[in-house]
Amino acid sequence: MSYENIEVRTEAGKVGIVTLNRPKALNALNNALMDELGAALKAFDADDSIGCMIVTGSERAFAAGADIGAMAKYSFVDAYKGDYITRNWEIIRSVRKPVIAAVSGFALGGGCELAMMCDFIIAADNAKFGQPEIKLGVIPGAGGTQRLPRAVGKAKAMDMALTGRMMDAAEAERAGLVSRVVPFDKMMDEALGAALQIADFSQIAVMAAKESVNRAFESGLSDGVMFERRLFHALFATADQKEGMDAFVNKRKADFKHQ
Ligand code: CAA
Repeated sequence: MSYENIEVRTEAGKVGIVTLNRPKALNALNNALMDELGAALKAFDADDSIGCMIVTGSERAFAAGADIGAMAKYSFVDAYKGDYITRNWEIIRSVRKPVIAAVSGFALGGGCELAMMCDFIIAADNAKFGQPEIKLGVIPGAGGTQRLPRAVGKAKAMDMALTGRMMDAAEAERAGLVSRVVPFDKMMDEALGAALQIADFSQIAVMAAKESVNRAFESGLSDGVMFERRLFHALFATADQKEGMDAFVNKRKADFKHQ
């Protein structure tokens, strides 16, 4: 499939990489781009040889938000009834294999929200995160008021949503929004290293780990722990569990077959 707003490639046959590619608009996220991103991630998700995905942008911008030009004229009825702007964003959350956001430059508004929809964020040292929608007379519309406080706590989330200020990479790492910060020229190597490592693990265990960590944000502690326990027990039905534990006991490298 050919795309106009993204570039798609694979690495070592097991990592799927999507690069957002609307450079003139700092990768502003219009419907066409989000449709293509959703389609590309779903295709990788359905491909048995792919074990992990990376979403990235350019050095200057991961994404500067939803496309303001496209939505400037919308009425309430357009936005609500047509559910434009964010109608196709939740597709990303339906992907079951891990998605890493490799973020350089601006990740603002919907760009920050898109990064937070990914499973974890590896940032370049020039990354800038923000929810500046308040400056446009609106609020975040793709989960920013919900995922940001879960990631960084109420104080910083309120600060960012109410003032629209940006957070640099160092602050984002301190606050827990990103998992690692590296120089820009090391960012893709770092993300690829993590993705290749994940892709070599049992896909079933990886999917279960993702599902279970996500559950932590959607349920109380005892429900979440019970959910985790059931998945943990279920993994003993897989050949990969036998392989992983036998490899450890016999001091050899595990060779997972994803079954
Ligand atoms: N939508 C559409 N176009 C955008 C854009 C966006 N979100 N962000 C940047 N662009 C365009 C600019 O209009 C400009 O285009 P032209 O060259 O044709 O004028 C081009 O990208 C370069 O931008 P700037 O000249 O502004 O570059 P800068 O370096 O001076 O500033 C910036 C960079 C601080 C990121 C600034 O562009 C900016 O503030 N952008 C808007 C950020 C924003 O408000 N994002 C939230 C959008 S609302 C949203 O996302 C809702 C939601 O929750 C889903």
